[in-house]
Amino acid sequence: MNRKFFINTALGFAAGLGAARLVKSRQDRQRRLSFRNTGPRKVLIIGATSAIAAETARFFAAAGDDLFLVGRNPQKTAAVTNDLQVRGANRVEYRLQDLADTAQHANLLAAAIEWLGGLDIVLIAHGTLGNQKACQAGYDLTEKELTTNFLSVVSLLTPLANHFEQQQRGAIAVISSVAGDRGRQSNYVYGAAKAGVSAFLQGLRNRLAKSGVAVITIKPGFVDTPMTAGIEKGRLFVGPEVVAKGIYQAIETGQDVVYLPWFWGGIMTVIKHIPESIFKRLSL
Ligand SMILES: NC(=O)c1ccc[n+]([C@@H]2O[C@H](COP(=O)([O-])OP(=O)(O)OC[C@H]3O[C@@H](n4cnc5c(N)ncnc54)[C@H](OP(=O)(O)O)[C@@H]3O)[C@@H](O)[C@H]2O)c1
Repeated sequence: MNRKFFINTALGFAAGLGAARLVKSRQDRQRRLSFRNTGPRKVLIIGATSAIAAETARFFAAAGDDLFLVGRNPQKTAAVTNDLQVRGANRVEYRLQDLADTAQHANLLAAAIEWLGGLDIVLIAHGTLGNQKACQAGYDLTEKELTTNFLSVVSLLTPLANHFEQQQRGAIAVISSVAGDRGRQSNYVYGAAKAGVSAFLQGLRNRLAKSGVAVITIKPGFVDTPMTAGIEKGRLFVGPEVVAKGIYQAIETGQDVVYLPWFWGGIMTVIKHIPESIFKRLSL
């Protein structure tokens, strides 16, 4: 056997093996994420009154899934619940909770899992775009923002990760932000919290991949929601329904990190590569 033939055969074998593994991992992913043949999926949505989350929940409702919603505002949470019921959800229940109160998280998750009879998918969506200048004036508000946007998410993800790891399937999706990709003077407290969320999810994905659990980091750009009500709308703004569609597709296909809309991936690549010596002179 000459050397060239041996190398070509080895390469062909390796490529074949790689392709077979790719197909198998695709099949595994499909098996994990497609729960259609086992009835309605058990979906937990935390921060369900968020404009983005409420739009995303409509896709699950249309698919006839079971939904457990967590909101803070009674009227808004009840309204979202009714909307999803009308749109075809198999069953919808909600619970009111200020998510900054992390001591309540264990009870909250236990109640959700009990009512749903398990858990296939969780979407964590709550957040606040705090006032950066007010945060700079004193640590108290900064701590509050970091608790809502980072610590409360970690507090939820810690038991959720253990649950999913044990059952060896499912999907955890969390809304982070492009703001976490690079700190800017106009919103670095929010950005730092989202950077923490993104890094936490990255580590979690690395851990849970071995257990067949998808961990999806969602990084929206500018979205026209109550959160951005006070911000002048430019051409890069999109409606929450656009981002919601991307979130639903990312969960269905078990993506890792998604920029929504897609062009934010390119924008953030450029922004991340601006040298610090130039970046610090910009007023961003
Ligand atoms: N809009 C954007 O441009 C944009 C861009 C990137 C990422 N994001 C992220 O997308 C997610 C959804 O935001 P959105 O744009 O849909 O804004 P939104 O409509 O203002 O939703 C924010 C949600 O968070 C909830 N929330 C805030 N603090 C809470 C707390 N302590 N306990 C319980 N719930 C709390 C709010 O509840 P209440 O209704 O009770 O206030 C509201 O439902 C957030 O994580 C946000 O950071 C948004």
